[in-house]
Amino acid sequence: MRISVIGCGYLGAVHAASMAELGHEVVGIDVDEAKIAALQAAQAPFFEPGLPELLERSMASGRLQFTTDMSAAAEADVHFIAVGTPQKKGENAADLRYVNAAVDGLLPYLKEGSLVAGKSTVPVGTARALAEKVEASGAMLAWNPEFLREGFAIEDTLTPDRFVYGLSKDASGETARAMLDEIYGKALATGTPRITTDYETAELVKVAANAFLATKISFINAMAEVCEVTGADVTQLADAIGHDARIGRRFLNAGLGFGGGCLPKDIRAFMARAGELGADQALTFLREVDSINMRRRARAVDLAREVCGGSLLGKKIAVLGLAFKPDSDDVRDSPSLNVAAQLELQGASVLCTDPEAIPNARRRFPELTYVETVEEAVSGADAIMVLTEWKQYRQLDPSQLITKVGTPAVVDGRNCLDPIEWRAAGWRYRALGRP
Ligand code: UDX
Repeated sequence: MRISVIGCGYLGAVHAASMAELGHEVVGIDVDEAKIAALQAAQAPFFEPGLPELLERSMASGRLQFTTDMSAAAEADVHFIAVGTPQKKGENAADLRYVNAAVDGLLPYLKEGSLVAGKSTVPVGTARALAEKVEASGAMLAWNPEFLREGFAIEDTLTPDRFVYGLSKDASGETARAMLDEIYGKALATGTPRITTDYETAELVKVAANAFLATKISFINAMAEVCEVTGADVTQLADAIGHDARIGRRFLNAGLGFGGGCLPKDIRAFMARAGELGADQALTFLREVDSINMRRRARAVDLAREVCGGSLLGKKIAVLGLAFKPDSDDVRDSPSLNVAAQLELQGASVLCTDPEAIPNARRRFPELTYVETVEEAVSGADAIMVLTEWKQYRQLDPSQLITKVGTPAVVDGRNCLDPIEWRAAGWRYRALGRP
């Protein structure tokens, strides 16, 4: 099929390249000239494992192109909307200006019978409002939320856990379903579940899934708080409750909590939307989920102060990891970067490092000091903090590292190091939720 993808960020760039991989003719469109210039040269504008190779392959096949010119969408039968829906400044609600601009920009190029498929995470009710505009141009609308995780974006796009189609209840809904089935044919053939439903349910599936994941993380982090005052170990607790298949061990890693471009803003936008709909009581628990999450950052700063002897003033602290999670260069609402900034504000002298995220971190927090290597960061440090669990940090050798630091104290913000090994090597080890 001929496809356009409007918005070439984490979601859109991966979606465009993946659709070309499935054999479709794809054009990716974005207003950001620098991003499009990089993509035209088959360069990924952000770090995502496998994306450079996929871009290279798809562009060499001639099936994938990128442009800033919206008129290129005129050739396509299906248009995916993959623009961002960030949090509004000073409010919890989602900012829909990019979604509206993408659809408005597309309207002049829609042909009779073409399909607009929304992938962006939107407040419930958005699709129905957009459908009116799209249908007035003779096209159809479907809402087809995306569940990809950064770091696994290609795998999640090509072999997702499920497809969700939010469709119009009239006859065009059936046509839209058939078009989406044709697009995802290869993945559907492997038995991937497909849920066809109405617009509202499709929109809610996405925010409900993210709300559940955030709740699961905050649940275990709340348990970590209780573990901290009782001397219990939250990692063992998670292993033990995770054996119950009804609970499951995934997303029960206690630590600094969730960040990134999705979970924090999505739960806030969900609360805001429920409030607008008069159902705010239903989601008041998400306020608690958000507070538990933010408290973990403060607790990490407290642990740093504690291992530094009660004051951070003038202490040299190495922060290892700035991305909101490993295998990503994304620092949006990154818990580790937030902790680094708080340490600096409280008088510590912080040296930050990360394998991939330094350029993005520097743009957001230019006042922090960045170094390229772990060796530079830890040299003479009073404490080191592992705040993003990159593989290279999980595999650090404590006996080798101890020769570089000033004081052998480590705060494990992600419960990703082995306390026995680090203590045996002579370190003072502190973690969130572990004795
Ligand atoms: C998330 C959802 O997983 C994905 O389905 C949705 O499409 C977008 O939002 P992503 O933001 O890429 O994806 O990251 P994810 O792997 O979900 O991690 C989110 C945050 O939670 C990270 O900061 C991570 O460190 C944290 N996390 C995750 C924990 O603190 N503990 C866990 O057990 C799991």
